[in-house]
Amino acid sequence: MQQLPVPSLSQRSPTMTAAEIAESLVPPRQFEAASLDNYVPDADYPSQERAVEKVRAFAAAWTASRGIFAKRPAPTKPGIYLDGGFGVGKTHLLAALWKLAPGRTYFGTFIEFTALVGALGYAATVRLLTGATFIAIDEFELDDPGDTMIMTRLLGELVGTGTRIAATSNTPPNALGEGRFAAADFLREIQALSDRFDIVRIDGLDYRRREIEGHAVVLDEAAFAAAITEAAAHGTVTADPFDGILKHLATVHPSRYVKLVDGLAAIGINGVRVLTDQTEALRFVALVDRLYDEQVRIFATGVPLDRVFGDDMLAGGYRKKYLRAVSRLIALTGETSP
Ligand SMILES: Nc1ncnc2c1ncn2[C@@H]1O[C@H](COP(=O)(O)OP(=O)(O)OP(=O)(O)O)[C@@H](O)[C@H]1O
Ligand SMILES: [Mg+2]
Repeated sequence: MQQLPVPSLSQRSPTMTAAEIAESLVPPRQFEAASLDNYVPDADYPSQERAVEKVRAFAAAWTASRGIFAKRPAPTKPGIYLDGGFGVGKTHLLAALWKLAPGRTYFGTFIEFTALVGALGYAATVRLLTGATFIAIDEFELDDPGDTMIMTRLLGELVGTGTRIAATSNTPPNALGEGRFAAADFLREIQALSDRFDIVRIDGLDYRRREIEGHAVVLDEAAFAAAITEAAAHGTVTADPFDGILKHLATVHPSRYVKLVDGLAAIGINGVRVLTDQTEALRFVALVDRLYDEQVRIFATGVPLDRVFGDDMLAGGYRKKYLRAVSRLIALTGETSP
């Protein structure tokens, strides 16, 4: 790889204290403008219009005092769970809902909440989050029995003291954990979790692909160098060999990837190859998720990033996670990305 005059991603080795994790629990930058009013339901998928109505009804408990939705009955469940395919606007609606909630509120991905428990310990996490009006959990998924036990208990305690919750996921609650661990052994927990939510299914096309070509853009060496140099004139850009990035990701906890990509305008990935190791692939997915949240543009050479996950992996329990990452990679390598 040609030496480019920009830093390497692997020079960034962030640490995050529990206080910093707690502070970072707000919606990502790209959803700053998201509201229920600027969500445009696709007329071909009536579940989208219904979902906005359900979210409005959920928020009515807070907005009723302002008189806007005073006639709507308050929903009976303390939680709302937006389940749907990639790019149908689940996170958009979640961020919009978060903005309507008064008082102390938190917004984070599932992985950030589990990392918070990891950093603070269970009891201190409960103390921190208790009293919150609302907690939004993006990308809810259960990867192992430990998460399942912790999240069931945590959400149970918070709901018990009056906190309302909302979650988004690519998986309906009753199928959480399937293909990943012996989910059947945790039916009681998964059922208890599921019972706290009003489940709202959102169908539709990937909004990110409504306008763009469905392939990740690949550059040759010269175009790569030119793109990096050009982007570096306007912001912070890194460039690394693909394998160098994978190696570095293994040394940073995924909950800190948010800080790894903080402030970047673009990253360059040289020599993308097909991934066959699941652990590497899942770390890469976690990186893609944070790049997407921060809308960090990706320049890449090698195998197109929409083909980075091997067929075996696409057929396994993490299929949806990989497909979501592909959708995001297409958006971030695209001409229309920021
Ligand atoms: N119906 C819509 N109206 C307006 N903007 C939308 C709509 N659906 C999605 N978007 C926008 O498209 C982008 C992708 O949406 P979002 O990230 O909310 O989808 P998602 O369902 O959370 O996808 P994923 O499964 O990848 O998490 C966002 O920038 C969002 O604001
Ligand atoms: Mg989302």
